[in-house]
Amino acid sequence: MFDLHCHILPGVDDGADSWEESLEMARISLDSGVRTVVATPHMSPDLSPEQVSRLVEELGLRLSAQGLPLKVVPGMEARLEPDLPELLRSGRVLPVGGRYLLLELPHFSLPVYTGELLFKVMLSGYQVILAHPERNARVMENPGLVFEWVSRGMLVQVNSGSILGKFGSRVRQAAEMLVKAGLVHFLGSDAHSASGRRPDMGEAVKVLGRLTPMAQEIAALNGHLLLQGDFAPPEGAAQPPGTGGWRRWWRR
Ligand SMILES: [Fe+2]
Repeated sequence: MFDLHCHILPGVDDGADSWEESLEMARISLDSGVRTVVATPHMSPDLSPEQVSRLVEELGLRLSAQGLPLKVVPGMEARLEPDLPELLRSGRVLPVGGRYLLLELPHFSLPVYTGELLFKVMLSGYQVILAHPERNARVMENPGLVFEWVSRGMLVQVNSGSILGKFGSRVRQAAEMLVKAGLVHFLGSDAHSASGRRPDMGEAVKVLGRLTPMAQEIAALNGHLLLQGDFAPPEGAAQPPGTGGWRRWWRR
């Protein structure tokens, strides 16, 4: 499996506190079947892409020393803010694989500039991966927003905890609706620790398998293709939520 969203690096955000905790998170990932993790600390003026790359390198050495066969790839989780295009241009944000920007929306609102900003980021040559849009209150009210974004070329990551109902039933329903509509491309643990929000994705993948025939693609294959620069969402798979989703596409 492939975890596209994990706060596994120590001491840089509200994720792992220490190298011990990072290694414990790595063990949990491996035990649940994950083989590749993208380290996605929150973007911050105090954190440079070079620092992230150095920490990923050191984590790799520590994992090898412990005999833990987990591959860790550098990235960041960006926030929706007006100067994001400028931060990208000046190299202050680290897109996954150099081109894919993992971007979280605010939890409660969608600022008026959202559409324009997403468009600007895409225009400057980056592909947006929306991080857990199912947790945004406006998306919960209107999941059709995600269909519009995906139709414009954006990609979507849902949280394993959302699928399991760990953020409440409304978030779970939104996540299910997006999965069934073919609007989800990647799964991420969005883990922050080894004890609270853990990087265990095993249970979520089982549930995902009951929602869509694309579970393996979402939980594993698509992430690997993304890193190779070979990922393209299946044409016509995305449908407006609540209209039959992948079933309609599958039966064509
Ligand atoms: Fe996150």
